[in-house]
Amino acid sequence: MSELLVVKNLKKYFPRGKKSLKAVDNVSFTLGRGQILGLVGESGSGKSTLGRSILRLIEPDSGEIHFSGVDLRKLNREELRRMRRDMQIIFQDPLASLNPQMSIGEAIADPLHIHNIGNKENRRKKVLEMLDIVGIGRNFIDSFPYEFSGGQQQRVGLARALISNPKFIVCDEPVSALDVSIQAQIIALLLELREKFGLSYLFISHDLSVVRFISDFVAVLYLGRIVEMGPKEEIFANPLHPYTRAMIMTAPRIPRDGNPKKKYDVLQGEIPSPVDLPQGCRFKTRCPVYSSICDSCDPEFIEHRDGHWAACHNIVAEQKVMATAVR
Ligand SMILES: Nc1ncnc2c1ncn2[C@@H]1O[C@H](COP(=O)(O)OP(=O)(O)OP(=O)(O)O)[C@@H](O)[C@H]1O
Ligand SMILES: [Mg+2]
Repeated sequence: MSELLVVKNLKKYFPRGKKSLKAVDNVSFTLGRGQILGLVGESGSGKSTLGRSILRLIEPDSGEIHFSGVDLRKLNREELRRMRRDMQIIFQDPLASLNPQMSIGEAIADPLHIHNIGNKENRRKKVLEMLDIVGIGRNFIDSFPYEFSGGQQQRVGLARALISNPKFIVCDEPVSALDVSIQAQIIALLLELREKFGLSYLFISHDLSVVRFISDFVAVLYLGRIVEMGPKEEIFANPLHPYTRAMIMTAPRIPRDGNPKKKYDVLQGEIPSPVDLPQGCRFKTRCPVYSSICDSCDPEFIEHRDGHWAACHNIVAEQKVMATAVR
């Protein structure tokens, strides 16, 4: 696999009084060129902080970020600014990320100004091309963001992200605020653009069904830590971590009659405060397979099968029992 992004032991803690909130706590993963990694987790699990720390929009505390072989944490401001052409971000609320005083055309051309690319004439040409690519009529070039629907605004956000020919886009809940039918259109567009331009995405969502649809690989984040990661088919066919299992069980499915089944909560117990994580495994307070071993230490993130990683003492214990039985 040709690696585009390698993240190693990334940490971002926010000070809270005398304590610290471990928003991103020792996260490592690799993303190949043209691949989509779906990052899923509950609200507050650290998804946005991780996405922004990778781009150094938030400065991480420690760890490594290698992008196209370049160590991003070693770049100075000017070098980082140049690198940003290749790494873009789109947000859940496209309207909030667009300047209301700028026309659509100006907003989409903005990265070209920032990076000093082209002259007035070929910038306009490039914007018109972008409008075609994201499926907005060329005649809307002088319209303003508030004149557009949520789906169209997200297309503008995408055009803006794409205009500098990036290799990688952090998609931070890009469809969460949209109606289901519009969600499907934007996801189809993201997939089409990936094919067309060989893009890689870190696709952030709290919605497992969206992540299941779009991703090649899935990482499950729990209180700042990836607890399970692997190829999508493997994660859904054979989830190893009790948190992933519970998420898959509780994800609403659309049966043939079109009515989503009722969500039911299989996880009981309190989510610990991210400022006061418990001793041992941070999932233990809600874990259906908790045992005393979970108090001992933080479980290691281990590769259990080819490319399928998980951090749980009980999987390790289960495998030891099985190995003994085989012997
Ligand atoms: N700038 C900040 N200062 C202090 N704490 C922060 C800051 N940004 C995020 N946090 C905290 O870090 C944790 C992770 O937040 P983050 O926004 O990354 O979660 P998320 O998974 O993206 O959640 P959501 O699904 O709601 O968007 C939360 O506890 C949040 O309160
Ligand atoms: Mg977020």
